[in-house]
Amino acid sequence: MAPGTDAGTATAFAQAVYVVAALLFVLSLAGLARPTTARRGVTLGIVGMALALGATVLLAAERSERPVGVTLGLALAALVLGGAVGAWRARRVAMTELPQLIAILHSSVGLAAVAVGYNSLLTGGLAGGPDDEAVHRVEVFLGVLVGAVTLTGSVVAYLKLAARMSSAPLVLPRRNALNLAAVAVALGLLPWFLAADGPAALVPLLLMTVVALALGAHLVAAIGGGDMPVVVSMLNSYSGWAAAAAGFMLGNDLLIVTGALVGASGAILSYLMCRAMNRSFVSVVLGGFGAPTGGPGAGPAAGAGEHREVQVEDVARMLRGARSVVVTPGYGMAVAQAQYPVAELVARLRARGVAVRFGVHPVAGRLPGHMNVLLAEAKVPYDIVLEMDEINDDLAGTDVVLVIGANDTVNPAAMEDPRSPIAGMPVLRVWEAGQVVIFKRSMAAGYAGVPNPLFARENAAMLFGDAKEQVEKIVQAL
Ligand code: TAP
Repeated sequence: MAPGTDAGTATAFAQAVYVVAALLFVLSLAGLARPTTARRGVTLGIVGMALALGATVLLAAERSERPVGVTLGLALAALVLGGAVGAWRARRVAMTELPQLIAILHSSVGLAAVAVGYNSLLTGGLAGGPDDEAVHRVEVFLGVLVGAVTLTGSVVAYLKLAARMSSAPLVLPRRNALNLAAVAVALGLLPWFLAADGPAALVPLLLMTVVALALGAHLVAAIGGGDMPVVVSMLNSYSGWAAAAAGFMLGNDLLIVTGALVGASGAILSYLMCRAMNRSFVSVVLGGFGAPTGGPGAGPAAGAGEHREVQVEDVARMLRGARSVVVTPGYGMAVAQAQYPVAELVARLRARGVAVRFGVHPVAGRLPGHMNVLLAEAKVPYDIVLEMDEINDDLAGTDVVLVIGANDTVNPAAMEDPRSPIAGMPVLRVWEAGQVVIFKRSMAAGYAGVPNPLFARENAAMLFGDAKEQVEKIVQAL
């Protein structure tokens, strides 16, 4: 559309709004990095998205030469439908089911990228001359490739996380060669796709889609349950690149920027998580790591040696005599929804003059920031919630550590037993404190399914039972 005409003005206006929206998305991501600024981050993201949608309606109306009202109506219908499904799912989901919800949401981004690719090919996309057509075809091909891998990869991740499929890695013979062959076949179809005329181009595209769907499913099926958090964040990154590819196909700059932001932040998060679990990113992606890992509630009985059991009254007595207390929460706190009584207990101890802080491991729970969200929900002050690296050196000088539903993240074997499957993973050194009380229901292992020698340490004691009920009883006893 020629600049200077009314329609060209609409394009220029939409592009300007896109720049503002892109800036708001960057500021939103920056805000989401800290609990104190997260609310502002979400608001900025919502404003950016509202602006982006408004500008897109204008742009779409101009390109399709339909009245704005019709385009707006179509966009609103899609928004109401998608928004209703999203709101329904988000309201019903339990905190412990968030990882699988995120995984299945990524699959819809993959599906959208595939659909946009086919639509773009069938409707002729934005092609101008023959050069444009070649560039457009490459965009379609790559968009559909990344989208299809994301689609089936996310569905398999969902099935594994929801325990509808074994969390054990699927180890096919020569699996890495199989993956490489799939990539080679998919890319080998590109010249055929570029050379084919009209509807004949659908054949290589369809073939490549089938190969990419199989590749996505196999890539994730080969990864064990213990590495699933990294996989979810990796799929988040893929879904960002798929969205960016869709942006190229649709000639939508904002979608390219947003997709790249999601793609890059997902990749950085995957790297940070690998570091926190002491795993190399490449070994995670290649899969086949470790025997079937636990998954929620699974795994062999844990602990080497005899453990000591205590009762609520003993713990209350311990806390009455303590000057400093550290709470290290884990997945069990989320399962028990114990964050509210824990916050109450901490408030009471602080009112008595006890120095209380939280030590949060980067992969405690089942998704990044899981514990921080729960503690914020229970209104625990942010300044007493410290990261593992900030608190680890202070644990030796702490009187009592309360391990609430954590297991792998406080396992000394990670530092002391080079043969342990979690050897090298940084952990909270809770055993260096004066006394450690572990709140859990049994001697079962944690997510990684490995024994925890902490339970048999001399200064450690087990308080068996549901974490919420036990903490409530301690609050009463105090
Ligand atoms: P885990 O090692 O998973 O241990 C949680 C413990 O909570 C279990 O041993 C369980 O013991 C106990 N528990 C469960 N329900 C409970 C309840 N109602 N009351 C009291 N205790 C309860 O937890 P963690 O230390 O947080 O470690 C996280 C693990 O998950 C790591 O291996 C990590 O790599 C992995 N992971 C992390 C993420 C992210 S990104 N955070 C995502 C997926 C996996 P009982 O059954 O005996 O009660």
